[in-house]
Amino acid sequence: MFTVNSVRLLSSIEDLGRIGFTEGSGISRVCLTQSDVAGKNFVYKLMQSAGLHTYFDEVANVVGILNATADVSPIFSGSHTDTVIGAGRLDGSYGVLAAIEAANSIRGQGVPVRRPLGVISFTNEEGVRFPPMIGSKYFTGESKLDDILQLRDASGVTVREALNGVGVRHETTKVMSKAVKGFLELHIEQGPILEEEHIQIGVVESIVGMRQFIISVQGSADHAGTTPMNLRKDALLVASQFIIAVHELRREIAIDGVVTVGKLEVKPNVANVVPALVNFSVDFRHKSNDVLAQLETRLNSLVEEFTTKTRLCISAKNHFRLPPVKLSSNIANLVEDCAKDLGLSSMRMQSGAGHDSMNVNKIAETGMIFVPSKGGKSHTPLEDTNSDDLVNGTNVLCNALVELLNSR
Ligand code: HGY
Ligand code: MN
Ligand code: MN
Repeated sequence: MFTVNSVRLLSSIEDLGRIGFTEGSGISRVCLTQSDVAGKNFVYKLMQSAGLHTYFDEVANVVGILNATADVSPIFSGSHTDTVIGAGRLDGSYGVLAAIEAANSIRGQGVPVRRPLGVISFTNEEGVRFPPMIGSKYFTGESKLDDILQLRDASGVTVREALNGVGVRHETTKVMSKAVKGFLELHIEQGPILEEEHIQIGVVESIVGMRQFIISVQGSADHAGTTPMNLRKDALLVASQFIIAVHELRREIAIDGVVTVGKLEVKPNVANVVPALVNFSVDFRHKSNDVLAQLETRLNSLVEEFTTKTRLCISAKNHFRLPPVKLSSNIANLVEDCAKDLGLSSMRMQSGAGHDSMNVNKIAETGMIFVPSKGGKSHTPLEDTNSDDLVNGTNVLCNALVELLNSR
């Protein structure tokens, strides 16, 4: 069994964690902002220093290839370095840095491998600014470049303008992603299970499906003092009632699913004006696509019910749909064996978070490895994982990659 250079791994995690960090509010490297590109440039340089053939592709995925000239289909490993707002230093970044460390250790220890190893940092996994996972959708050929470049953020800026604005250059020497033989993503669990069960390694068998919507409630602005209560079209009051109803329908239809209303915008958002317009997000997650379809149908009927009842204009717009996925059982078995050979405890589990692996799973055998999250916290500056767990996960990743890189 191989072990990686833990000091090099842990210092790269701390170094990347300083990019986009603000004391008291965590890390914000929102897709294609200057801090996101600084993070991309950091991993670009790290890939180069690990001796990888490194390039940006057309949507600013950062790719590094070890053993690039071998003419057999490559194995890839990686994740993302863009973050939500107020993030921790591990979500995504850990998987990219661990993949670079594995490549560096394989090359540095002269481990014989027959396939190229591709390391990748995908653009915009999080979807804070543009619909999520544009990097892995491009890499797998699911989304065409022109379609991606035309996507707009809330202020109407396109991906093309954002790329030009931050000056990301790209080379065209891209490896044929279609030929990818296998993909392995290491990630923090972002939940409480491994810590509660005192297990060191999560062997991910499946990832829940996700459907996200933007609901708009159009009322009318009025004076907060002079307008009688029965004459108001108060968009925020109706939105609040709607949100309670959405949680009700999740309890009714998907007791083992989750729903989150995480983003809410009020216009004009002034204390002495009756709210005229409210936009908010609804994010459903469940392991069954049928249940997600039922939730979507009930959400649309709720829009009709509330429109009739309140006389306000209410609409629901789908932001994205990602079906649940089953990951490769071969790779799950391999990860479990590597954990065992390294003397680490492991358990099979489902991911409640979305990952780029959902897309790569459509073109190649794909697996995921989890390590415990302290207190199950993520998408918050409190996100953290013990150094031993970070190193354990990377050693499992490295050994599983060596197996895959020598597979026939
Ligand atoms: O939302 C998610 O599950 C992922 O962190 N983008
Ligand atoms: Mn992530
Ligand atoms: Mn995330």
